[in-house]
Amino acid sequence: MDLFEKKFRLAMSSKVALLNRITHYIVNRKGKQMRPMFVFLVAKMVSNGEVKERTYRGASVIELIHTATLVHDDVVDDSNKRRGFFSINALWKNKIAVLIGDYLLSKGLLLSIDNEDFDLLKIISVAVREMSEGELLQIEKARKLDITEAVYYEIIRQKTATLIAACCSLGAASVKPNTPEVETMRKFGELIGMAFQIKDDLFDYGTKSIGKPVGIDIKEQKMTLPLIHVLNNSSKQDKRWLINSIKNHNKDKKRVDQVIAFVKDNGGLDYAVQKMKAFQNEALDILKNFPESEYRASLELMVNYVIERKK
Ligand code: IPE
Ligand code: IPE
Ligand code: MG
Ligand code: MG
Repeated sequence: MDLFEKKFRLAMSSKVALLNRITHYIVNRKGKQMRPMFVFLVAKMVSNGEVKERTYRGASVIELIHTATLVHDDVVDDSNKRRGFFSINALWKNKIAVLIGDYLLSKGLLLSIDNEDFDLLKIISVAVREMSEGELLQIEKARKLDITEAVYYEIIRQKTATLIAACCSLGAASVKPNTPEVETMRKFGELIGMAFQIKDDLFDYGTKSIGKPVGIDIKEQKMTLPLIHVLNNSSKQDKRWLINSIKNHNKDKKRVDQVIAFVKDNGGLDYAVQKMKAFQNEALDILKNFPESEYRASLELMVNYVIERKK
């Protein structure tokens, strides 16, 4: 990861002063870097410890694209905090945040193109398309408030799980292209990604400091698994009250707190935890098909970290 970080910093640099100032601000507030870790550990697991230069490049491209989507996501969600500090839109406004996101995306794609990593670029580009589709589907459902549990899974699969799936399939493809492991690891990553986003949505119901705002999903009329489950299992009257709260009182702090309390009291969080664990176990089952190794053991730890993490 030390070597990765050096390469990643370089991949982000620019000659334009304003861009360089902002990219410095970004790299100095790094996130958990789970995605590159998945790239490296999967590559090592399927190849008995061998990683290539293109494994590093692939990991950089994915972290660049992840960073780009976070910068854009904070514009879309009107969120002023990220990784414990002000978001780019909070400091430099939306116009600049949109352009910074585009810049990071293009830097990522070019890193693949300039090195002719076209097989890896294909994996990444599919994920980028799906993330955009997922974000738009989420907005559509927030407007209509007619989301079902199945649609929720489709949204989180597209907006979050596909990128983690790309990490794992890219890790495998970087060392063993055109082998069945590429698809097996894509599926593995997708399952982790599902659990990962359910966990992220559970944080929003908490009160703990996680480096970004909590309690903003309902404010943004974003319905996530705990709320969807409770909606589907309450009386007509409660349902009407819930929908009316989200539709017409979503900026009223007291009313939002009442909705959150209702979801908690009616088992919404427990249900989401149970679903998250089901995805976790499916992911762990896939790992069991690989021979024991230190890399497999680390991946198991990573899967469990996704569920137990505190931010
Ligand atoms: C946040 O991802 C975006 C989601 C898909 C929920 P991470 O929680 O991995 O973000 P950082 O990179 O660690 O900040
Ligand atoms: C995740 O969406 C970000 C993307 C996948 C683009 P969220 O809006 O749920 O993530 P956070 O909570 O802001 O990190
Ligand atoms: Mg969002
Ligand atoms: Mg957000």
